[in-house]
Amino acid sequence: MRIVVIGGSGLIGKKLVPILRQKGHDAVVASPSSGVNALTGEGLAGALTGASVVVDVSNSPSFEDAAVMEFFDTSTRNLLAAETAAGVKHHVALSVVGADRMLDSGYMRAKVAQEALIKAGKVPYTIVRATQFFEFLG
Ligand SMILES: NC(=O)c1ccc[n+]([C@@H]2O[C@H](COP(=O)([O-])OP(=O)(O)OC[C@H]3O[C@@H](n4cnc5c(N)ncnc54)[C@H](OP(=O)(O)O)[C@@H]3O)[C@@H](O)[C@H]2O)c1
Repeated sequence: MRIVVIGGSGLIGKKLVPILRQKGHDAVVASPSSGVNALTGEGLAGALTGASVVVDVSNSPSFEDAAVMEFFDTSTRNLLAAETAAGVKHHVALSVVGADRMLDSGYMRAKVAQEALIKAGKVPYTIVRATQFFEFLG
């Protein structure tokens, strides 16, 4: 199955892509460093051609409140629209355990907004909520 991993070059993406390939999937790394930008839409249509599943493990380069909200809001809208156009069958997104209980954090408000867009969208989805990774501790 062709699985496009948005943010496939990041901390979790780098771990996920080899696992998908070991399982026999055609896992495609998609991020700005490979010419695919979910925020501007650059390269999205081409990357999603023939994909069955999109896994979104991208992250905002800035954690400043307005920037992170803009990142998850715009990139999620762009991804869902491109997935609908390409006939993608499932959208998977990585979120954070308890995000809806930490709304004093701008980052968590943006993750809750990302989840809401996915739930309101037309693409069947799975939202995976993980606790913070140990690598992120520092
Ligand atoms: N870290 C944690 O503890 C943790 C816990 C739970 C959930 N999560 C969630 O897991 C996801 C991934 O986190 P992470 O720590 O693996 O992130 P990360 O290491 O910061 O990686 C970010 C990834 O996003 C890509 N990216 C940045 N701007 C993009 C854009 N405009 N379009 C497409 N891709 C873009 C980067 O691509 P380039 O390499 O090309 O710049 C990179 O591949 C996030 O949504 C986060 O909320 C993280």
